[in-house]
Amino acid sequence: MNNFKFHNPTELIFGKGQVEKVGKKVKEYGDKVLVVTGGGSVKRIGLYDQVIASLQEKDLDIYELSGIKPNPRVTSVREGVKICRENDIDLVLAVGGGSTIDASKAIAGAVFYDGDPWDLFSKGIRIKKALPVGTILTLAATGSEMNPNFVISNLKTEEKVGAGSQLLYPKFSILDPVNTFTVPKEHTVYGIIDIAAHVYEQYFSHTESTPIQDRWAESILKTLREESVKVLADPEDYDARANIMLAGTLALNGLLSMGKETDWASHGIEHAVSAVYDIPHGGGLAIIFPNWMKYVLDEGTDKFVQYATRVWDIDPAGKSDKEIALEGIEKTREWFNEMGAPSSLADYDISDENLELMAQKATAKGTRGSYKVLDKNDIVEIYKMCL
Ligand code: NZQ
Ligand code: ZN
Repeated sequence: MNNFKFHNPTELIFGKGQVEKVGKKVKEYGDKVLVVTGGGSVKRIGLYDQVIASLQEKDLDIYELSGIKPNPRVTSVREGVKICRENDIDLVLAVGGGSTIDASKAIAGAVFYDGDPWDLFSKGIRIKKALPVGTILTLAATGSEMNPNFVISNLKTEEKVGAGSQLLYPKFSILDPVNTFTVPKEHTVYGIIDIAAHVYEQYFSHTESTPIQDRWAESILKTLREESVKVLADPEDYDARANIMLAGTLALNGLLSMGKETDWASHGIEHAVSAVYDIPHGGGLAIIFPNWMKYVLDEGTDKFVQYATRVWDIDPAGKSDKEIALEGIEKTREWFNEMGAPSSLADYDISDENLELMAQKATAKGTRGSYKVLDKNDIVEIYKMCL
């Protein structure tokens, strides 16, 4: 195991009926709150009214920014920054999925920066000061509710960049699984795949002797598999929604990467696709991840054998390591397919036209990954496997 430092200051408030605490939590940071929401789901499910009632009960001044799109745009961030500056906002409250939370973090991080927010994110400039952020999560997927990162898209330049700051861990995140009952089937599936992908990015590592981190990862994957069946059969299964929500948070709050080298190539490969084609992140990962697994397998079959035998209970008797590993990868593909996820770029009508361009974008800041270090040509090969 490598040396590591772990500090995660986000207060998680988990369970039924917890949203009524939001007014009290926000009040701890001041009187003026910017409520950030997406395309309307929070209004349709009645959550918006509950949030506003709780904020009003504490006499808070409420400002709003709605219409955050999946793959949140830098244009929304600029709007949010303007509202914060003009009204001296004390806290940015995200109510929604990962996109709404990411946009809120980006706003909070850009508000004290003199230049354009896009420069701040895309040039990797250090965020020196930020507004506090609180979240009410409505979709289990990104883990953004308990990490300091955000991902913002620029449609003009066809770029999607990730950025972050220790200042942007949400101060509190309210997670009521009931608020995820209404997530449409396809977004439920994309969320589950995103969570699994976050686990894979940290699980497939050459760092030796990390049995605790490995078993945490395997337990999240096995739980996800079991609960995915239940939630697709009954979207209002509280326990299944709760377990998937907790899986999403634990998959990307720093636990799984303790003392380990991590990979993250597949995320870079996917972000380049969604930058050019604006597809859902989890849908892109469903296509890319099993192909990445096949492509990097020869860099170390042991970890893939462990994955196949422990997560998928593959019987190793009479099989070579490579056969066992490939069976595990096949099971992964089957699981994604059973849930109805896309399996090729063609499912999004994406042809071979822009593979070079996407690979160029994915490697704009250098090679990707660590299990196998991937250059532009490797990434083109992976895209070809995805066609
Ligand atoms: O916009 P609304 O109307 O709210 O609808 C959303 C949206 O259409 C809908 N939705 C959310 N909660 C709902 C609901 N519909 C009904 N009932 C509910 N309770 O679901 C759709 C997708 O929402 P979105 O927030 O885009 O999904 P997700 O949470 O998957 O976020 C995806 C974004 O997060 C980034 C992705 O790249 C993508 O931009 N990521 C952020 C990460 C991070 N901050 O750590 C890590 C991830 O790897 C990822 O890259
Ligand atoms: Zn992801």
